[in-house]
Amino acid sequence: MARWAHWLGSWEAQQHALLPGREERFSLICAAVATGCGTQPRVLDLGSGPGSLALRVARSLPAAEVVAVDRDPVLLEIGRRALVRRPQVSFADRDLGDPLLPELGSGFDAAVSSTALHWLDRAALATLYRSLARMLRPGGLFLNADHLPRSEGQIAELVRGLEHGAEERRPDPAPSGPRSWDGWWTIAEGAPELAEAVAERRRREHRHPQRGVPLSLEQHQDALRDAGFAEVGCLWQRLNDRILVAIR
Ligand SMILES: C[S@@+](CC[C@H](N)C(=O)[O-])C[C@H]1O[C@@H](n2cnc3c(N)ncnc32)[C@H](O)[C@@H]1O
Repeated sequence: MARWAHWLGSWEAQQHALLPGREERFSLICAAVATGCGTQPRVLDLGSGPGSLALRVARSLPAAEVVAVDRDPVLLEIGRRALVRRPQVSFADRDLGDPLLPELGSGFDAAVSSTALHWLDRAALATLYRSLARMLRPGGLFLNADHLPRSEGQIAELVRGLEHGAEERRPDPAPSGPRSWDGWWTIAEGAPELAEAVAERRRREHRHPQRGVPLSLEQHQDALRDAGFAEVGCLWQRLNDRILVAIR
């Protein structure tokens, strides 16, 4: 058990090093779920990894039921083992772009996500949003914390320039070793307890997309409206990092 807690902890350390303000975003998402959905919500965590956000939701709302969805066998293995004493969190091995995602159920009160949906291309994202429109109850919430840049215009350019400057002014050096993405994966790939999951990950060729330009804020908003979401807005923003909110 301690070994799996260690793996979850090292994932958290790596993600915190990459994403300043990660905990603040998690807190705001949990508060929005509590405010909008009450104390016993059924929640999806999309692209959950080992369940970091699912765990925050379960801690802040102990009567919540959270289904954490991911397709990475290594992260699913860590999540299932580390959160074994949190029966209200379950893990589903699914591709978010799979049109059969609604088989996981309907009537969910909220779907949350953190730094995951930028992995999806436009077609997969449209499929996911159509699935969510079927899985969330009317009035249900979608909350997505991710890098969501505006597509064009002078404000988009200004923010791009500020982001570039912010990177240069960053007080800590860029993370290295286990606190970098590649460093963490190198260590995970050598761990005997993860060998089976690592082999399965290789078989699936699950890799981070090397796409230069992520889908824009406007593309996400349009795809949500096209899928049938009634209202779309922003809950929080720092430069191009946002929490996008939509009401089913
Ligand atoms: C940067 S990690 C973030 C994990 C977690 N949300 C967190 O904040 O710690 C991105 C996650 O999205 C998952 N992911 C990417 N594309 C996916 C897809 N098509 N279907 C399911 N999961 C996907 C990856 O496997 C990975 O776990």
